[in-house]
Amino acid sequence: MSIRTLDDLLAEGVSGRRVLVRADLNVPLDKQSGAITDDGRIRAVLPTLGALVEAGAKVVVCSHLGRPKGTPDPQFSLSPVAGRLGELLGAPVHFATDTVGDSARSTVAGLADGQVALLENLRFNAGETSKDEAERGAFADQLAAFGDAYVDDAFGAVHRKHASVYDVPARLPHVAGRLVLREVEVLSKLTSEPERPYVVVLGGSKVSDKLAVIEALLPTVDRLLIGGGMCFTFLKAQGLEVGTSLLEKDMVETCRNLLERSGGKIMLPVDVVVADAFAPDAAHDTVRVDGIPSHRLGLDIGPETVAGFAAALSQGKTIFWNGPMGVFEMAAFAAGTRGIAEAITKADAFSVVGGGDSAAAVRALGLDESSFGHISTGGGASLEYLEGKTLPGIAALEN
Ligand code: 3PG
Ligand code: MG
Repeated sequence: MSIRTLDDLLAEGVSGRRVLVRADLNVPLDKQSGAITDDGRIRAVLPTLGALVEAGAKVVVCSHLGRPKGTPDPQFSLSPVAGRLGELLGAPVHFATDTVGDSARSTVAGLADGQVALLENLRFNAGETSKDEAERGAFADQLAAFGDAYVDDAFGAVHRKHASVYDVPARLPHVAGRLVLREVEVLSKLTSEPERPYVVVLGGSKVSDKLAVIEALLPTVDRLLIGGGMCFTFLKAQGLEVGTSLLEKDMVETCRNLLERSGGKIMLPVDVVVADAFAPDAAHDTVRVDGIPSHRLGLDIGPETVAGFAAALSQGKTIFWNGPMGVFEMAAFAAGTRGIAEAITKADAFSVVGGGDSAAAVRALGLDESSFGHISTGGGASLEYLEGKTLPGIAALEN
């Protein structure tokens, strides 16, 4: 890999230099209180930020949060993140209330060596996500003016061709941060000769989101276990009735085709937990997949499925997991996700958890993060990496 790294930059010396760090601080916030519900992504960039602080750099951090529409929107402010980042770093983080305006300029200009600033949400500016090269470029010029060097540590955003990810590195000396490097190292182990059996578990709600990765993985994996909302489209493709469960009608034919071509590698649930409604207190029961009542919807995989999936996982030497098995945020429908996560920790395998939701599930269920080989901070990014796609943020670092 022809990518320069943070260590290369540190070796040059960064004391007194302004280093612009693109991080992915897109953390989940509580809808009511606005509090950060999972700070995993903030923790994940501490090694890079800590090293820069220690080396005496003036550290300018930028990130997106959520999907605001190119204009300031208070519910997506990074302000709470600045507070949490400061706590974790053990030093105050100077927060700019805009991204490239007066506040940002004076905040950056006021930084002493070894201090950290956080700019307001990149996506408050239309230029960040614009498809128009000139508009993105103009915004990238403004951002690049805040750094003498650029570090990409935003693994969760490397699949986005956005100004801060793709255009800024073309304007500044650029390196990969510790997190990006580690993520790429781990994921490349999965794509180049994984130790076998290689078992993949996919969940989440939509087949259409996962189709490309399923296509890419089928020839490579030994077993592909499918749960979560998307399993119902596969069950339908097997001719079963799925009641009012999530169903992508226009994907049924595609699923039938995948099952035919899978050579028996795909494992589907044999039982599911069905409920009267999508609600934490809905009446629910476990039924076999050929007995889903027409008025009920499946919200988790059942215990027999967990046992079958766990047996397959126990054979694995390499495991990749993306997507919850059920609505784990509701206690009544969390057992499937918990069971699979526990089975992965027990397997004598190199295990990788991919994706914001699955990583959040691991932490929300109180599981020990260190019992997994690696917990990726990127959902879409890790899937696109496994699909073999060119990731704009990585490509930009290679140039
Ligand atoms: C994510 O949460 O997947 C990353 O932060 C990227 O966010 P995006 O999907 O809104 O680009
Ligand atoms: Mg995403």
